[in-house]
Amino acid sequence: MDDGEGTRAAEAQGRTFGPLGTALVIIPTYNEAENIKAIVGRVRKAVPEAHVLVADDNSPDGTGRLADELAATDDHVQVLHRKGKEGLGAAYLAGFRWGAERDYGVLVEMDADGSHQPEELPRLLTALKGADLVLGSRWVPGGRVVNWPKSREYISRGGSLYSRVALDLPLRDITGGFRAFRRETLEGLGLDDVASQGYCFQVDLARRAVKAGYHVVEVPITFVERELGDSKMSRDIVVEALWRVTAWGVGDRVGKVLGREDAGRTGRSQRAEETKQGG
Ligand code: GDD
Ligand code: MN
Repeated sequence: MDDGEGTRAAEAQGRTFGPLGTALVIIPTYNEAENIKAIVGRVRKAVPEAHVLVADDNSPDGTGRLADELAATDDHVQVLHRKGKEGLGAAYLAGFRWGAERDYGVLVEMDADGSHQPEELPRLLTALKGADLVLGSRWVPGGRVVNWPKSREYISRGGSLYSRVALDLPLRDITGGFRAFRRETLEGLGLDDVASQGYCFQVDLARRAVKAGYHVVEVPITFVERELGDSKMSRDIVVEALWRVTAWGVGDRVGKVLGREDAGRTGRSQRAEETKQGG
């Protein structure tokens, strides 16, 4: 355990976490016609009390229509139809907004292709009882990937390592997309100015959560590479992640030099301080 984790564990001690409320599992989709029915079925079975929101970017392969068919016969399934492909980040932001407006207590991120196993979701939700944010993690002890080419593993491990060092984050899997947020956590992250489009959206949210002083916990998961359909990972997504993470890292350091150590702090830690000052 390093210092960061120790400090956060200490901070978390003495804190009480409220009840979780109903969970909304948000599944972003772009051309996942071969996967959508199976994944929704698995979620419904693994966590029957949870609701599902498919956030589809008008997939040319008809994923949105298939999701509508599921929604027609199951009141725990809903579909958010978006105009076109705008990236993972935009789809999640729209899904979070949709869920917050409807008072869900927990917002879950999960891929449609079976890489994130719904059967592991109860473990994430159990951990969230004592945390503000839970990350499903491939790179903590007990976590692993199945059927991933070495090339993909290097990109993912490298991306997490670079983010960890550049942004000074005490986390192992910073780019992963299997996560459970308390609604209050998302509300404290200041999501209105998130510009990240691709998978660096995940880095952005993890970084905001740590800076805001939230208790972030990593739970090991087994990530299984998809069998059907294609990954949407692209060179552009890697390039965006690289330049954004670098810019955030430089910004943090410049901020520190200028003596604004609390520059990035919002949400819980800031509110806690205001309360302290207010007596
Ligand atoms: N609505 C929408 N719009 N959904 C999208 C878009 C988009 O522009 N791009 C991707 N998705 C959906 C996919 O349909 C899938 O459900 C999920 O987002 C993940 O996309 P994949 O293409 O399967 O991602 P991956 O397997 O290459 O990447 C995995 O690793 C990344 C890096 O660690 C995932 O776990 C990502 O979440 C993770 O960031
Ligand atoms: Mn995938």
